[in-house]
Amino acid sequence: MTQEGDESVIRRDRFSGGPARSFLSSLEADKRIFEADLAVDRAHVVMLAECDIIEDAVAGEILTALDAIEVEGHAALPEGEDVHEAIETAVIEQIGPDGGKMHTARSRNDEVATCIRYRLREDVFEALEATLTLREALCAVAAEGAETVMPGYTHLQPAQPITVAHWACSYESAVRRDTARLLEAYARINQSPLGGAAFAGTTFPIDRERTAELLGFESVIENSMDASSSRDFLLETTQALSTLATTLSGLAEDVIIFANRGFVSLSDDYSSTSSIMPQKKNPDTLELVRAVAGDAAAGVQGLTTTLKGLPRAYNRDLQRATPHAWETVDAVSEATRVAAGAVATADWNEDVLAAEAGAGFSTATGVADLLAANGLPFRTAHELVASAAERGAERANGETVSHAAERGADYDALEAAAGEVLGEGLEAYVDPDAVEAALSPAESVASRDSLGGPAPDTVAESLESARAELAADEETVAAVGADLEVAHEVLRAEVSGYV
Ligand code: ARG
Repeated sequence: MTQEGDESVIRRDRFSGGPARSFLSSLEADKRIFEADLAVDRAHVVMLAECDIIEDAVAGEILTALDAIEVEGHAALPEGEDVHEAIETAVIEQIGPDGGKMHTARSRNDEVATCIRYRLREDVFEALEATLTLREALCAVAAEGAETVMPGYTHLQPAQPITVAHWACSYESAVRRDTARLLEAYARINQSPLGGAAFAGTTFPIDRERTAELLGFESVIENSMDASSSRDFLLETTQALSTLATTLSGLAEDVIIFANRGFVSLSDDYSSTSSIMPQKKNPDTLELVRAVAGDAAAGVQGLTTTLKGLPRAYNRDLQRATPHAWETVDAVSEATRVAAGAVATADWNEDVLAAEAGAGFSTATGVADLLAANGLPFRTAHELVASAAERGAERANGETVSHAAERGADYDALEAAAGEVLGEGLEAYVDPDAVEAALSPAESVASRDSLGGPAPDTVAESLESARAELAADEETVAAVGADLEVAHEVLRAEVSGYV
């Protein structure tokens, strides 16, 4: 019986020897799926024997040859258009023509799709672990910095005081969603296309559920054409990684700015110096983390463009789609681990932060809120405080302070503004002690205790739920890792029955 679809085995000699030989070949890039292909071969051969499609003795010979090929490694493979062909050639070289029975009832089309999913599961598992490590680091920073007041910014201008804990929790929440997106992508990677053959199924009585089980896949991608042709799982994963990289780039940018302002000191391990300027300590690692968002966006762009408009079913374009995903997952996982290390080892300079927390009259909103809470319409309060801020922007000699962070306002400025805006003193509305308190960054932070706000008690509650969710995600990801281990053991055990 001849197989449908993949004609390369018959036509190998006729078509693959020309000047385009190396252009056609993915053998080098397939190093990444060498182990995956061996696993897929093993599962397929075990299933073929169980379904009486090949003899047990032949299965044993093929499986023994695969073990030897694994020991010799990818570099020892004979020539081939890709790893699938090269491994098959190596099996035939070792055991003779019966080795050719390995490719019964399948095609390289379903084979490669299965290999990519099999390998990508491991890579996404590592990316997931990296997000957990980063979340742990951010939680630790939050626990340490519960009371550490710092300036918060909008438009990169001093806005309102916050705490280091509130800042760290804001990124932890974002990375938590990145973990969730990767877990969702993982669930759709974890489905087996094997047995879809070239795209139109096979006449052999195969058991697709069994190969899925042997490879630890959660389920089977049923439609054989969908199974061999679809790469939306690559796009979805790369998009999730790109979103994570975008989160990382903001985190990196913040820490770079904080280091520039003396708020935080990076560990030497995460800094570089200059080859010419001996005094320099640069946040290079975080600059590279920031840049990885570009790599990831390029991966998404490359994949989208390659996949766009591909007709059903398999097209060789797909061979060039896969590396975009490998490059993205490698770059983003590494950037996530580096960001986690940089965050975990950085020192927050509390004195500088405290001194800067009120800079630029960052407590102005709190003062306006206080006046509004005491009966003044918020708009009038806003105008009053703005007028005080303008006074704060002028030095005694009438010169204007151009740098926003150097602006400030004190009780006297507010009192003068009240005289101008209200025509009477502040006391008519509010207790002067309360105004003094509202001008203090620490008090300002403590008073913003609405859900998710920066008040230390509020952040402590957020941190508690962040930690609970982190623990739950750690369990989920550990279970993913355990399932991958079990899949290896199940397959190993089945194979050992034949060799
Ligand atoms: N190397 C190919 C890929 O990565 C798989 C082989 C399918 N080739 C074919 N001519 N049908 O997609």
